[in-house]
Amino acid sequence: AIDRHVGTPVESKTALLWEGDNGATASYSFCEMARLSNQYANFLTSLGVAKGDRVFLFLPRIPVLYAAFLGILKTGAIAGSLFSAFQQQALVDRLENSSAKVLFTTKELSARVAGAKAKLPNLQHIIIVDSPEFLGAIAKQPDTFACVHTKPEDYSFMLYTSGTTGKPKGVVHVHNGILHEYATAKYVLDLRPDDIYWCTADPGWVTGIVYGILSPWMLGVTMLVHAGRFDPDVWYGLLEKYKVTVWYTAPTAIRMLMSKGDAPVKAHNLTALRHLCSVGEPLNPEAIRWGVKVFGLAFHDTWWQTETGAMMMVNFRGMDIKIGSMGVPFPGLEAAIVDDTGNPLPNKTEGNLAFRPGWPSMMAAIWQNEEKYTSYFVNNWPASNASRSDAGWYISGDHAWKDDDGYYWFIGRADDVIKTSGERVGPFEVESALVEHPAVTEAGVIGKPDELRGEIVKAFVVLKPGTKPTEELKAELSEYVKKHLAGHAYPREIEFIDKLPKTRSGKIMRRILKAKEMGLPIGDTSTLEEY
Ligand code: WTA
Repeated sequence: AIDRHVGTPVESKTALLWEGDNGATASYSFCEMARLSNQYANFLTSLGVAKGDRVFLFLPRIPVLYAAFLGILKTGAIAGSLFSAFQQQALVDRLENSSAKVLFTTKELSARVAGAKAKLPNLQHIIIVDSPEFLGAIAKQPDTFACVHTKPEDYSFMLYTSGTTGKPKGVVHVHNGILHEYATAKYVLDLRPDDIYWCTADPGWVTGIVYGILSPWMLGVTMLVHAGRFDPDVWYGLLEKYKVTVWYTAPTAIRMLMSKGDAPVKAHNLTALRHLCSVGEPLNPEAIRWGVKVFGLAFHDTWWQTETGAMMMVNFRGMDIKIGSMGVPFPGLEAAIVDDTGNPLPNKTEGNLAFRPGWPSMMAAIWQNEEKYTSYFVNNWPASNASRSDAGWYISGDHAWKDDDGYYWFIGRADDVIKTSGERVGPFEVESALVEHPAVTEAGVIGKPDELRGEIVKAFVVLKPGTKPTEELKAELSEYVKKHLAGHAYPREIEFIDKLPKTRSGKIMRRILKAKEMGLPIGDTSTLEEY
């Protein structure tokens, strides 16, 4: 992504245009980023980091994050990223499961791991990137480094992501993914040498790594990074100031901009914009129509997942968009709608969105959880001798249908995973955080449809006998999850109930909570214990 440009005319071009929260700015050329990442690679090597070790980043979107990420890849280690809204429990779960050896963080964020060191015996170094010691040490590192050789199937980065049950799982990607990352950035984002590109995703999520570090830089494109929070005026200001040409963002952000009306858009000169794309949650037709009205451009939907490693369903810039559809499979992929045993279903039939396994950026493993990895596939994968046509299917966990023109239409998740503001939240993690609170006996958590955020986290809570079900307690419980688990995963709505619907084996039936919440029929309750 970086060293390939050194010694070419691209080396002096700006790789990173950075703007901080308080208006501070910085910029780095490709050559500077190459040297800086070499210093990080040398620093890590001096700590004894070697191929295959896990090195994690728990940082805000500061330039260090980008240089360190590349430095880690150069050593052959596996880079892991952690969203800066994570609190202690979320951090410990991920650092413990991955046996991370090194963690990069800031003074401010380090407080969240400080109390948990005893639980992390493998974590040998916590590097505080804004400490004088570190700044001194990194400045002394040589700025040349011979990259450790990796094979296509060697691990490159990993990200924890949430499912319905259990703790978050470590989705592991390989260096070979770069082929798919490159091709999609070139042909779907349509990135070209003169673009100023802005991906608004944080590298704590897959989009922020794949389309917010690796692929734009592979293509030698100048990228904008904004370290601050979402704010409509600031965002329009950035689009104007940096003359952003290609913008990749998410439906919740688009809806939040839309809710502020057209006037703020008109107050800025955004004529440089030439292509808009979206990812992470269903892109509603109003958002597309609004984009056409105010920017003169349609947001182009892309569908993919942490596990798929790159875009799978796309709307090319030169293609007729069917508003509300997530598009067509990227060329080279074989997609289908299949039933639970992997039989393809006819057009216009709801089923599992599935892909033939083996595309370059497909996850190669779930960290130390072979069973979970295998559970994503039906039939032959990952049989070592499976050829592409008999390899069975990768089952995405989403339900969709296909029309007669080959366009795919998203219906919803097949499981209980929550998508709030485009971020993936596992109900189990939130339930576990809630029951840690002394007033709570048990909790069931669902995604409740929300016009702005797609879904919000809603918790049904059974209190300990004798506890008063007050509004103050609801606020306290929300705050508790925010402080212990993560700033984005807390329940915005809490309801106290006497009893949770459960199966006879004791599993919380979130489907029933959701149906009740939405006033829908409860469906099959044959496995339900008396409720
Ligand atoms: C959802 C994000 C509708 C979907 C890159 C998927 C979408 C999950 C879209 C993956 C879209 C992503 N339309 N839903 N265009 N894109 N999703 O792992 O449910 O954070 O399974 O990856 O987001 O979320 P993840």
